[in-house]
Amino acid sequence: MLAQEPSPSRETAAARRPLPPGTDVDGRGHLIDGGCDVTDLARRYGTPLYVFNETVLRANCRAYRDAFAAYAPGAMVAYAAKACLTRAIAAVVAAEGLHIDVVSGGELHVALSAGFPAERVVFHGNNKTAAEITQALDAGIGRFVVDNLDEMDRLAEAATRRGLRQRVLLRVAPGIEAHTHEYIQTGSQDSKFGFDLESGQALRAAQRCAATGGLRLVGLHAHIGSQLLDTRAVPPLVERMLDLARAVESACGVRLGELNLGGGAGIRYVDEEALAPRTLAAALTAAVAAGCARRGMEPPVLAVEPGRSVVGEAGIALYTVGSRKRVPGLVPYVAVDGGMGDNIRPALYGAAYTVVAAGRMHEPCAQQVHVVGRYCESGDFLARDAMLPAPEVGDLLAFYAAGAYQVPMASNYNLVPRPCLLLVANGRADVMVERETYADLCARDRLPERLLARPAAAAAGMGSLGSAG
Ligand SMILES: Cc1ncc(COP(=O)(O)O)c(C=O)c1O
Repeated sequence: MLAQEPSPSRETAAARRPLPPGTDVDGRGHLIDGGCDVTDLARRYGTPLYVFNETVLRANCRAYRDAFAAYAPGAMVAYAAKACLTRAIAAVVAAEGLHIDVVSGGELHVALSAGFPAERVVFHGNNKTAAEITQALDAGIGRFVVDNLDEMDRLAEAATRRGLRQRVLLRVAPGIEAHTHEYIQTGSQDSKFGFDLESGQALRAAQRCAATGGLRLVGLHAHIGSQLLDTRAVPPLVERMLDLARAVESACGVRLGELNLGGGAGIRYVDEEALAPRTLAAALTAAVAAGCARRGMEPPVLAVEPGRSVVGEAGIALYTVGSRKRVPGLVPYVAVDGGMGDNIRPALYGAAYTVVAAGRMHEPCAQQVHVVGRYCESGDFLARDAMLPAPEVGDLLAFYAAGAYQVPMASNYNLVPRPCLLLVANGRADVMVERETYADLCARDRLPERLLARPAAAAAGMGSLGSAG
């Protein structure tokens, strides 16, 4: 693509678009997050650095809690831990009164070790192991969302052995195409998640569950996708789920008191209008109330599982520019010290971001650049065609809305240590997760003793092999 001439516009990053919640710009043009100058944070803790704003995180939890309390009293809001989980995040979410949705023994362990009440844990996943089921039953978690018959059998056996009747919801693939990227659609019929509705699988699974010892079928669950920006899919989703609930009731004589409709609310990455908790709560409750009234059913208790919309806009990612490359006639490249190792989303599904020069917020964004990472993949892009003040080596770049599905998907590709995570509030910064070290990289690496370097012996061995051949 041809490079554009620098824009004559004097538009600055501070003026160009709304700042992320909880941030501000000071008189020197520095981005301030939670009362902390991010350039100071970068100097002190190094980059790449993920900064999470505790006040915003709490406000997002409360927005969900209050919206559902207003529209659907008794509703359960469970934070989807996969979006990002540290013990500090778990502690904040617990203190704000939310439930938590976990998908692995690891997430469960981290949540419980932060003091998250087990009763408020919902365990998801399409292949929970026997060990994870044992761990969750022993902890006394509130609910399992059963995804398939193999899991149902494993869970029933383990619960029966303990003399329990475990509360269970069935995950349903409702055959709804969400309006989002294919990789984050989960409700279609051809999905690895849940019991297919269309073919009658879901009803048969409910009948089997209701008749199985050790399990107490309390509800249905569906999650149709992520980064949804409107509620178009809500009415058809609710209709299908209520039809199924009624069919289960008449086939098994079991009233399903809970309806969990997953997460998925979208956030602002560039110029999207986020789907507000109030809008979602209003749409869900209106559809459920109308659908139940038409069927003469008592409305079930609603549950939702927001992840991205709780933590996404509470986080920013900071990187330092290390090198630049200019090819005549093309958009220049600016390379930073992170990339696909800490944020795979642009490479995985072309996710777009707002990026700013965090120490130059009052300067015109006149230069078009591609911001790329440091990893050995040509696809290691972080932002294409970003507009920044002409970048200099040493500039600090901030990516907004970096709190969800970045750190949890981070890898050690190229054996680059994973970044440090901070929690900021009221001018104070606390480390949530330390930066990985080279010692950490070797902590699980075992060098068999027979391979320990013994240069003389090795050379002799090579020689004798050589002469034998
Ligand atoms: C079952 C389930 N619940 C909740 C979520 C959270 O979705 P989001 O982060 O988009 O709110 C997901 C995300 O994949 C999910 O699979």
